[in-house]
Parts: sequence; C-alpha cells; structure tokens
Amino acid sequence: MVILVTHNRHSYNRQAAGYEKRWKAYLDHTHKEFLRRIEVRKADRVLDISCGTGLLAEELIKRNAPFGELVLNDISEEMIAIARQRVGEHPNINFIDYPADQFPEPAQLFDLILCLNAFHHYGNQKQVVEHFHTHLKPGGRVCILDWNRIGLFRPVNKIINWITPEHIETRSDREMKALLTQAGLTIQSLDIWPFRYWRFFYFEAKRITNIE
Ligand SMILES: C[S@@+](CC[C@H](N)C(=O)[O-])C[C@H]1O[C@@H](n2cnc3c(N)ncnc32)[C@H](O)[C@@H]1O
Repeated sequence: MVILVTHNRHSYNRQAAGYEKRWKAYLDHTHKEFLRRIEVRKADRVLDISCGTGLLAEELIKRNAPFGELVLNDISEEMIAIARQRVGEHPNINFIDYPADQFPEPAQLFDLILCLNAFHHYGNQKQVVEHFHTHLKPGGRVCILDWNRIGLFRPVNKIINWITPEHIETRSDREMKALLTQAGLTIQSLDIWPFRYWRFFYFEAKRITNIE
C-alpha cells in the first residue's frame, strides 16, 4: 500500500501545475454535479479527503457554505501547495496530508466527509470506507462522486489503467454500495449518469445514530 501511495503522490506532484488546465472540462462537469448534490450545514466540521488543488473549497467559500471548519487533506505536496495558495488564508480552513486508508484515530469527528474524483486511487478501499464510518459523528454524512465501472466504461477504464502511472481501482455502483453498507453506513442517495466516455456515481451515505 505504501508503494501505491508513493506512485500517486509522485504522479500528482508532477502534474499539479497543469492539472486544472488539462482536465478543465472533466473538472467543470464533476464539480458542478457534486456541488449541486452536497449540502453543507451550519457549523459543519467538513473533511475534503483528497482536496487536490482546492477547487472545491474555493467554490464552497464563494457560495458562502456555512461550515464551521473545513479540513483539506491530500497526499500530494504540490497539489496541496496550490490549495494553500488558493484558500489558505481562510480562518476556518486547515490542512493535513494522510493517505485515505491510513487516517489516525480521530481526535474530533466530522459532520461531513467529501470525496470527489479520488476514490478510485485508494489502495485499501475497505479500510477507507471504515475510516469514513469511524471519523463521522453519529448522523454524519459522506458524499462520494467517482467513476462507475459499468458498461462501456469498463474497456475505457482498462486503457486508462494501462496509460496512467497512478494506482487506479475503479468500483461499480453495486460494489460501492456493498462497501459502504458493509462498513455500517446507510445509503441516503445514489445517482448514476454518463459524461462523454465516463460513467459516474454519486453516493451519499450516513452514519446512523443508535436511536434513528
Ligand atoms: C483527480 S484528483 C481530484 C482532486 C480534487 N478532489 C478535484 O476534484 O479536483 C485525485 C487526488 O487524489 C489524491 N490522492 C491520490 N491517492 C490518494 C490517497 N491514497 N489518499 C489521499 N489522497 C489521494 C491525489 O493526490 C489527487 O490530488
């Protein structure tokens, strides 16, 4: 798993400067779709688990999302450096740099975990989803938008896998649903849709309290 993280870190460090330009259409689409589905509630403690260059954080600030604290995490020093330049001045934003499957014991839990365009990069995905559960407050929510390995996207995904240096392990919506459910999370919503040759899913899942 350490090797996978190193591959991803190096690859994103190399592409950080050109990332937004190269992937503009893709990023515009996925960010728009994510933003219209997620709901940040008043004083929420929010984790963006793979924040990249901080595009999502910037948009949340522009839209006056009422978070109490927004924690931006990423393993790539170069991606997170751009995020720092972009939103680092904000008083309620903090930065951390853990691999998604190696999060430490939580000192403080989150109301909302955001995972955009990144789940397919994680090594131990079962562990990541268990971390989602243990790092959420009871009643807390996780929102995930990622590639959906179904239909014609399967062969495309294979080609992407051959030509990119990053670790890529894409899930179908069925597999993702099973992962979330097995970790004790309750699915609140699921959308699937195509965009160009990609297929996407959006999941919102909740850590249910004992009394719900
Ligand atoms: C495609 S980018 C998405 C960034 C951002 N969420 C966005 O939509 O612009 C994937 C991000 O995942 C990060 N990443 C890759 N492997 C990771 C891991 N194991 N743990 C945490 N972040 C990881 C990369 O450094 C990169 O910034």
